Amino acid sequence: MLEIQFVKQKRTIKAEEGETIREAAIRNRLSIYSHIFKILNCRGRGLCHSCAVEVVSGKTDPRNDVEEQQLAKRLKKNPDLRLACQVKVTDSLVIRTHV
Ligand code: FES
Repeated sequence: MLEIQFVKQKRTIKAEEGETIREAAIRNRLSIYSHIFKILNCRGRGLCHSCAVEVVSGKTDPRNDVEEQQLAKRLKKNPDLRLACQVKVTDSLVIRTHV
């Protein structure tokens, strides 16, 4: 079992290898969304970029095409951004939400 530490929430949750950061957060009743995006999001389909998080530490697979497209403008400011709904957990991670 892997762990994901959420810095802003000061919580560490268990994650199963292969599930996404978003799935692990939902299963552990931790919201990765800010404000109105808790309701208005694409439910993990990679269409809204409201689940953007910063990977502070831990290994992840390279960004997929969906992430490259959705985060294109924001990556110049923060190259560590990822979409929580697209990143499959393969290592213990430290994550910063609401970025
Ligand atoms: S939930 Fe919409 S892009 Fe991840």
